[in-house]
This record gives sequence, C-alpha cells and structure tokens, in this order.
Amino acid sequence: MSTESQTINTLLEESRTYEPSAEFRSQANLNDPLIYATAAEDPVAFWEEQAKQLSWTQPWSQVLDDSGAPFFRWFVGGKLNACYNCVDRHVEAGLGEKPAIICETEPGDHRIYTYSETLVEVSKIANALKALGVKKGDRVCVYMPMTAELCFTMLACARIGAAHNVVFGGFSPDSIAERVNDAEVKVIVTADGGWRRGKVIELKRMVDEAIELGCPTIEKVLVYERLGDATQYNKGTWYEGRDVSWSDLVENQPDSCPCEEMESEDLLFILYTSGSTGKPKGIMHTTGGYLTGVNATSRWVFDLKPDDIYWCTADCGWVTGHSYIVYGPMSNAATVLVYEGSPDFPDKDRFWRVIEKHRATILYTAPTAIRTFMKWGTQYPEQCDLSSLRLLGSVGEPINPEAWVWYHKYIGRKNCPIVDTWWQTETGGIMISPLPGLTTTKPGSATRPLPGISAAILSEEGHALTTISGSIDKPEEPIGGILALTKPWPSMLRGIWGDPERYVNTYWSRFDGLYFPGDGVKLDEDGFLFLLGRVDDIMLVAGHNISTMEVESALVDHPAVAEAAVIGKTHEIKGQGICAFVTIKSDVQVTESTIDELKAHVGIKIGPIARPDDIILTAELPKTRSGKIMRRLLRDIAEGRELGDTTTLGDPNVVAALRDKYEADGA
Ligand code: WT7
Repeated sequence: MSTESQTINTLLEESRTYEPSAEFRSQANLNDPLIYATAAEDPVAFWEEQAKQLSWTQPWSQVLDDSGAPFFRWFVGGKLNACYNCVDRHVEAGLGEKPAIICETEPGDHRIYTYSETLVEVSKIANALKALGVKKGDRVCVYMPMTAELCFTMLACARIGAAHNVVFGGFSPDSIAERVNDAEVKVIVTADGGWRRGKVIELKRMVDEAIELGCPTIEKVLVYERLGDATQYNKGTWYEGRDVSWSDLVENQPDSCPCEEMESEDLLFILYTSGSTGKPKGIMHTTGGYLTGVNATSRWVFDLKPDDIYWCTADCGWVTGHSYIVYGPMSNAATVLVYEGSPDFPDKDRFWRVIEKHRATILYTAPTAIRTFMKWGTQYPEQCDLSSLRLLGSVGEPINPEAWVWYHKYIGRKNCPIVDTWWQTETGGIMISPLPGLTTTKPGSATRPLPGISAAILSEEGHALTTISGSIDKPEEPIGGILALTKPWPSMLRGIWGDPERYVNTYWSRFDGLYFPGDGVKLDEDGFLFLLGRVDDIMLVAGHNISTMEVESALVDHPAVAEAAVIGKTHEIKGQGICAFVTIKSDVQVTESTIDELKAHVGIKIGPIARPDDIILTAELPKTRSGKIMRRLLRDIAEGRELGDTTTLGDPNVVAALRDKYEADGA
C-alpha cells in the first residue's frame, strides 16, 4: 500500500495547469462544453448519434440491448463492414488520391499509399486469404513487422469477415502457439523478417518453431517478403504445401474484392492480453460498436483534421495500433504515419527526424518512450524541426508530471495541448482523457471521462465514494479508490474468447453490475482524475502488461528452478522493472551463469520484454500458511520499505533472511 500512497502524494503536489489556447480552442472539433451534459443526460441516444458517422448497409433496430448483461449488444440488427468504412467510402467520396498510410522503414526509405492504392492492396490480400481457404467467421493470426502490409492485412481480414488475431512481432514461438491454438487459427500471415535496431527479426522462423510446438488448426502460412533478397538473412525452412509466398499469391490476385456484409455484433478481432492467472485472455471486439467508439474518440481526442499527418508510435500488436492506427484514424480518412523500427536507429533522434521529414502534426506515444528520451537528452529533439506538431498524446501507463512537462516543453515547444489517454485493451477505445480544445490539463492527470462515459470511484468494499459523468464536483479533499465504469459503452469488449465465465468473473464480479478495470484512481481537490496503475498483480513494463504469473511460469519451466515469485519494481525508465525471487532445485548446482541463463530463458519463453531485470536466488519464498506466496512482502523488500503486515506468514524467518540476502546482493 505504501507505494500507492506515495504515488498519490507526489501526484498531489501538482498544481500547474495548462489551458487550451484560444487559437486551438476556436478551431477544435469539439469546443462546446455542453457536450458532456448532453451525453450524460442520455448516453444511449448520444452514442446512437455517433454511430451515424459510419456507413451502414442496414440500420439497427435497437441501439443497446442490455437484457443479457454483462453480455451487452450494440446497434442490434445493423449491418456494416469495417474495411469499407476505413477505405472504400473515402475513395467513393473523392479522397482516393489522399495519402492513407505513409510507411517509414527502419533503414530509412518510405512509401506512401493513397486511399485508392490502399483499396487495391487490401483487396488483393483479401482475395489471397480467400484463395487460402479463409472464410467469414474464421480467425487469422497476423505476425508481421510494423509496416503498411500489417495494416492492410488487418483490413483485408475485416473485408472478408474473418477475425484477425494480431500477435506482436516480439513474442516468442510459445506465445504464438498458445494464441493460435486458443483462437483455433487457420492461417498465419507473417513475413520473412523485419528490422529492429539494425538487426533482422526472424519472424518466419518463429512461426516455424511455433507450429513445430503443435498448432493442429494451422493450414497455411502466408509469407510476405519484407526483406526479400536484400540481406544475407537465411530464410530457413520452406514447407511445401503449407507455406505460400506473398509475391506469388497476393500480387497475382484481382484488385477488387467485395466487402462481406457483417452484423454489428460479428467478431472483428481477438487480441490477447495478460491475465492474472497466467493464461492470456482473448479479448473480443465486434464490429459496429467498436468502430463507432474508435471513430468518435479519434476525432474528439486527436482533433483530426483533413490535412493532419497523424503518427501513433505503437505497434499493431497492441490495442493502440488497432484502435488508433488502423480503425479510428482510417475510419476518419486520416493520413497515418507508420514507422517500423526503434527510436534510436541510426541515432537517438530518429523519432524527431521522422516528424521533421514527414511534417507530422500529431504524435501519440507512451510514457516509457518519453522517459527514455529524457534520459538521452534534449539535444536530440532540439536539433530537429518539430514546428509541424500541433497536438501530443500519451498512453499506456501513468505519465509522471516530470515527463509530461518535458514532453510539453521539448517536443511540444509549449505550443501543443497534451492528451493523456486512459483506456485498456478491454475498453477498445479511450475512456478518460482531456478534450484538447476544451479541457484544462494538469501534468499526470488524464483529467476526466469522455462524453458518454460514466465512472465512479469505489472503496475496497465497493461503496461509491463519488460518481462522475457529465460534470465533476470538486471534492473537499482528494478521493482515492478503485475505478469502475458504471454504464456500458459501444467499444466495450464483448467477452473473452472461449471463456464467458472468466469474462464475468474478471470484469463484472468485483462490483455488482459495474465494469471493474482493475486500476486505482485518485480525484484531486481541483477535480482532476489521476490513474494510478493496476490494483492487482499485473506488472506494467515499458507500457506493456505482463502478468507476474506468466513470468513465474516461464521461470519454473527451466529445469533448475523449483519455484519463483515475480513482482514489479519501480524502474526509472520502464515504469516497472521485473524482479524475480527464485528457488533452485536442491540437486542443482548454481553456477556463475545461472542467473543469466534464467533471464535468457524467460526471454525465449515469453519474449525479450519479459526478461527479468533482477533475479534473486533464495532458499525459500515467504508464504502464507495456506501456501500462497506473499508478493506484497517481496515488493516491500525490493523497494527497500518497511515490511507490511507479516502476521499471516507461515514462517517469519524466511522473509527476514530474504531481506538480508537481497541487501547483501546489492540488487
Ligand atoms: C492498462 C491497460 C490503452 C492501451 C495500451 C495499454 C494502464 C493505460 C494509461 C494512462 C494511467 C494507463 C492502466 C490500464 N494505462 N493508459 N493514460 N494513465 N494508466 O493497454 O495493455 O490493456 O493496459 O494500462 O493500468 O488498465 P493494456
């Protein structure tokens, strides 16, 4: 508890506020504060208005069906196609020559695809998928580098009514296999490789290894030649009959393909996110409500205008890429900048060079990146022309006020509003965020729920400490507690693939009838909301959720390990670093390389992002009498705090010995 209250205290010292400039306000898409009250008065009617921004082939007969709550249905009876809404309709409206995607590769070349060209590329991929046997209702796994082809492939799936399941290109073969098997995927679309920090990421080889682990539902693997022959990279094994070359198949397809007419509640995609039990959850999003939510929030929060060059630095392997690279911006006919590689290649000014080169107007990135840039120094952004920027966004974890102010000063040149956007894979779209033309901001605060979103702060026991929709009453003193969302919203998750019970238990059982995101929250005296991170055991490492359980399972998978307990520990750059307490099997000889071996093992099992920063070998772990590991005490040790309540410990000596060991190791 003490870190939490410390976080609250630091945040609460914040008194600087920033008002939107008169200039920004007057041109903003939303500049009438009445929208909050209007939406709060009748949220269902309000969302119905938003849905009308999309093109439907059949209107809905009911806006919200809550009869099966928490299995809500939106725009029931309505029909539409998400790809049509993101591509075709813009071409039909005369925007065919407008750039849709500007793709900057890590080596430094770039390619611009107009909306007309996008339509052709997407249609060819759609036809190729059909040729591989993909049908409406099937699942396709997409494991690709962050290039335009990844976006096209997602849209191609949507076009033919197949659900995509994008797996981040940094995930290991085990992670691919687990997701592919859970979703019963038929076809994997991958690439020979991609670039990251000047090195090749061997995507196809990972897919081969995943399938070797056993993926019985996989019929075909479509391989995009991203690298082609340009490198010495060894293409690995080619499985005749299973592997299909993109240049053979996709490029020879007809360049038109009809859009499948989808029900509003048909599945658009599954995206896996970490769960506290270790098994990732396949979060399901459907078509009409999801698209309504991300379409509206893109326009409001990023203030998208026809000539914006919008850059979200996320990868499509995460929900941010789904909602705020592909579906939100493209359903608004935006020009989207996509960058394949790392921010320090060839040098630490790459992001700023990309902005300068393409005259980007909007930048949406993560606090972990901002903290890294702070560490690298201001000389990198200072030597670039960032004058095209007009709005900055942040997402993924709490942004500490210092990073916020740095972002404002050195990237925004004090001239750009910052939108700190709170949301989740599960919420589909942004829930809590300033509106850049309306909201006064405060560093570290995501400010307030968007119009149409209702929230509450609850005590541990579930008492409502305050509710927020439409207007926020300034509390007499700060209110801290657990966040809940109190009304359904169109882009909400529709469930967990294959596990409806877990959906109900995880999100709807903590507080009766309310959605429980699992985050702590604080409302300060001025009525600003501060999101404080997860209340449960999930770590947030460099903006990515990694469950302690997953890392523990990977450690225990190593032949030398008996038991492991993993915790998140405050980390200057990543937000949280991973700290593992490991007991070695008694018959195993510990050597100098054991710790490095274990770290590498986790990297292979889950992916480099989950590699522990510290591993402490210990004879025993602190447990309750019933045998549960007390991670709370491990966190106290790792943070150098006084130990919390130790009365439920099985053996108090264990924790004392562990603390001595931890301090002696100098971790
Ligand atoms: C969790 C969701 C949202 C897309 C990327 C992460 C944390 C996210 C913020 C923010 C404070 C934030 C929360 C949330 N989070 N944005 N602006 N301020 N915390 O998606 O992997 O589903 O993680 O990220 O803890 O619950 P995700």
